[in-house]
Amino acid sequence: MSTAAATHYVSPDAIQRYSFHERVMHWLNALAYTYCLATGLAFYTPHLFWLAVMLGGAPTSRFWHPILGIGFFIAMIWMHVVWRRDMEITETDKRFLSNVEDYATNRDDRVPPQEKYNGGQKLYYWLMYYGTFLLLFSGLFLWFPEYIAFSLAWVRHLMIVLHEIAALITIGGFIVHVYMSVFLVPGSTAAMIHGYVSRAWARTHHRLWYIRMTGGDPVGKE
Ligand code: HEM
Repeated sequence: MSTAAATHYVSPDAIQRYSFHERVMHWLNALAYTYCLATGLAFYTPHLFWLAVMLGGAPTSRFWHPILGIGFFIAMIWMHVVWRRDMEITETDKRFLSNVEDYATNRDDRVPPQEKYNGGQKLYYWLMYYGTFLLLFSGLFLWFPEYIAFSLAWVRHLMIVLHEIAALITIGGFIVHVYMSVFLVPGSTAAMIHGYVSRAWARTHHRLWYIRMTGGDPVGKE
């Protein structure tokens, strides 16, 4: 493990969770999604139109929303190339998901040890991955109505509904993701900023990954 770059932020024996590459990829993805979310909500209801006003006005938001949407799609594909193996659903994840109330109610002794990501994190990943395709597919119809299904109003209406359903599904996942990683699991946000977690964090939340990274150090150091 290279700790030289981490010593300014964390203890020297911290474990690297995210490389610089992964952090840039994640935050570009988050930026593109958040922009599309804010402008999309402004188009959805007049109550949230102020979001478009704050982001430069309605024409600016309408211009950039689909372009940042393509940016989000590209960032998601990038994420898929880098993380898809880590995100494969295993038997442990199925057990985690079928007993997720133990995790939610802090009955930690009943939660099976987790790899680098737990079943819930993986589920979020796949939800965003497939959601991105749905958003792109339906979004293209709304972006170029004069070229795609021009004479078929029902297709355009269907695509509007599909775009909204896909957006609502990803928004649900996004809210849980931000809440969990920023507020519920302290240390996660720092990991996505400087890349490192303490041994105690890794041992507590992702014990199988911790064992893999440290060779099974049973005590660990802070
Ligand atoms: C501003 C919005 C966002 C914030 C504050 C945020 C925060 C974080 C944090 C702190 C982690 C580290 C969690 C850990 O290591 O356990 C993380 C991981 C991750 N983020 Fe985000 N994120 C945001 C948006 C997004 C978006 C839009 C995606 C779209 C796919 C995404 C996908 C992921 C994935 C797949 C992981 C790894 C697995 C997981 O922790 O769920 N994030 N995020």
